[in-house]
Amino acid sequence: MITCYSIAEYSKAIASFSDDTLIGFVPTMGALHKGHISLVQRARDKSQIVVVSIFVNPTQFNSHKDLESYPRNLAQDATLLERAGTDILFAPSVEEMYPNPDSRVFELGGLDNTGEGRRRPGHFNGVAQIVTKLFDIIKPKYAFFGEKDFQQLSIIKYITEKQGYPVNIIPCPTLREDEGLAMSSRNLLLTNEHREAAPEIYRSLLNAATLAKKGTHSPRDIAEITKKEIEKHPLLKVEYVEPLDSLTMKEVDMWEDAADIQLCVALFAGEVRLIDNIKIEQNVA
Ligand code: PAF
Repeated sequence: MITCYSIAEYSKAIASFSDDTLIGFVPTMGALHKGHISLVQRARDKSQIVVVSIFVNPTQFNSHKDLESYPRNLAQDATLLERAGTDILFAPSVEEMYPNPDSRVFELGGLDNTGEGRRRPGHFNGVAQIVTKLFDIIKPKYAFFGEKDFQQLSIIKYITEKQGYPVNIIPCPTLREDEGLAMSSRNLLLTNEHREAAPEIYRSLLNAATLAKKGTHSPRDIAEITKKEIEKHPLLKVEYVEPLDSLTMKEVDMWEDAADIQLCVALFAGEVRLIDNIKIEQNVA
């Protein structure tokens, strides 16, 4: 594995491959877990060379404290990536990626009006800034993103198409710990007691999916029930539970409002903000 810390180093490394080499790209913010490694494996299967970036992108954070406390472990990440068959690790500095402040404002098609977009103003614009910068540098054919960040995935698909990048966005399923907690770099920040409480999130989402199948409750009611169920746990504070149209990311109330509905949740387990989601559908007879 070649590690590049600058754009010039990356350009040099990639020049040793022929121009038509299929590049599979996995953008990350590091603190890697098995979920990231599954993206690398997917990239391995589909591409000729696999590039992974590790960059904690300041423009997508809403608070300095959150940015500072984001877990970082480049040496350990590099070992995991090499073992997983990564060809190039791109790990630039903030100065390298933002020699000047990025003032671009992206049109996100209203996909950021709900969920994370509503609670984290500017977050998705920051994601759009860094993902487009990375696409310009890496020039991938495929880019792999996890479905845990469901709204992010939808927004990245949108900007990729809208900006005319010739990149195929490949969604990859959420990986979970044995007790169901969605794998996330932020899980490393949980205290023992919050880590024990956190599997309640997925248990409640599974209950929501089961309730949906019965056809007795609307998506809106299911969201309310799920919120109450999670909050029965004294250590978990729900920020939102929203049933979103999987295509438009608009909130839906009734089943007939959307063809596909994703129930999205964000909450605090102590100081740590976690997100997760599940598809809900009625049993179609
Ligand atoms: O999902 C993430 O880890 C980040 O939002 C991404 C896509 C790497 C952009 O910084």
